Amino acid sequence: MSVHFVFVTDSHHYPEAPQDYGAPKMLTRSHQIMSAAIPQINALQPQFVVHGGDLLCGGGSFDLPFSTYCRSIAETAAVFGQLEAPVHYIPGNHDCDAQEGSFAELARHFPIPQLLDIVPVAPRLRLALANVYLQSPLDHPQGHWTSQHDRALRQAADQAQEEKCALLLVIHPWVLPTYEPAPGGFVGNAAGLLETIVQCPAIAAVFTGHRHTNRIRVHRDFLVVDTACLVGYPLGFRQIWLGQDGYFKTRFQSLDLPALRQESFDRSTAQANQVWAGEVHDRDSEILIPRLQALWA
Ligand SMILES: [Fe+2]
Ligand SMILES: [Fe+2]
Repeated sequence: MSVHFVFVTDSHHYPEAPQDYGAPKMLTRSHQIMSAAIPQINALQPQFVVHGGDLLCGGGSFDLPFSTYCRSIAETAAVFGQLEAPVHYIPGNHDCDAQEGSFAELARHFPIPQLLDIVPVAPRLRLALANVYLQSPLDHPQGHWTSQHDRALRQAADQAQEEKCALLLVIHPWVLPTYEPAPGGFVGNAAGLLETIVQCPAIAAVFTGHRHTNRIRVHRDFLVVDTACLVGYPLGFRQIWLGQDGYFKTRFQSLDLPALRQESFDRSTAQANQVWAGEVHDRDSEILIPRLQALWA
């Protein structure tokens, strides 16, 4: 048994954006970028695709008029609708509207979890898709891991464990506060979430976006995989393989837009770009996940 999938995140579409906004984002080119990703992902023939949130530029910071927000949803749905593999979505803090902080319009076009959706994606593999924005991201942009999330995840993990299934938790903000270079990017009650993950051996890995940075950390016997944004340097997505022997293999795939990638690179110092891109093993690596090995042996 081997599973092959793609993780893409923070595509941040903004129709006719008046500027690129903070580096490394290239928001004036967001439609071109997400459109370029589709044939590249399809060519890899993954079994499924996961989007880690921030499809749009709603919520705080961008002040998108509601009509532009609605247009961004329709255009994003049309582009991502061209993916040939099944796609699974979670909401990010920039996926709600800027007026009410509501995800209602998004949910009409994209299947997003209300709390925590458990989705079988391959034999003995399930995604746990988290929505940590039960309160408006306008007030709580980092989201919050509540006792409701915790109960739902523990129950799903217990059941998965009994059935020798692995769970991959997908959540928009970061989950490891102790690794945070600057405050603010990780989910509220990250310590409670981390304790639950530690106690639930069916959770083999956690996938996040939000900080636009490639980073892979082994924490005890599971993986935390953070992935850079699609919409700026290093301008790409992550290809992933899980082997029956418990090995996780990944390769960061940059989009075939070298000039645009350089333009995004040129907006920051080499040091800042190094953080977005991560070190080589944050992009391309092969790591044994002891939990996956135990479950799939
Ligand atoms: Fe983002
Ligand atoms: Fe975000």
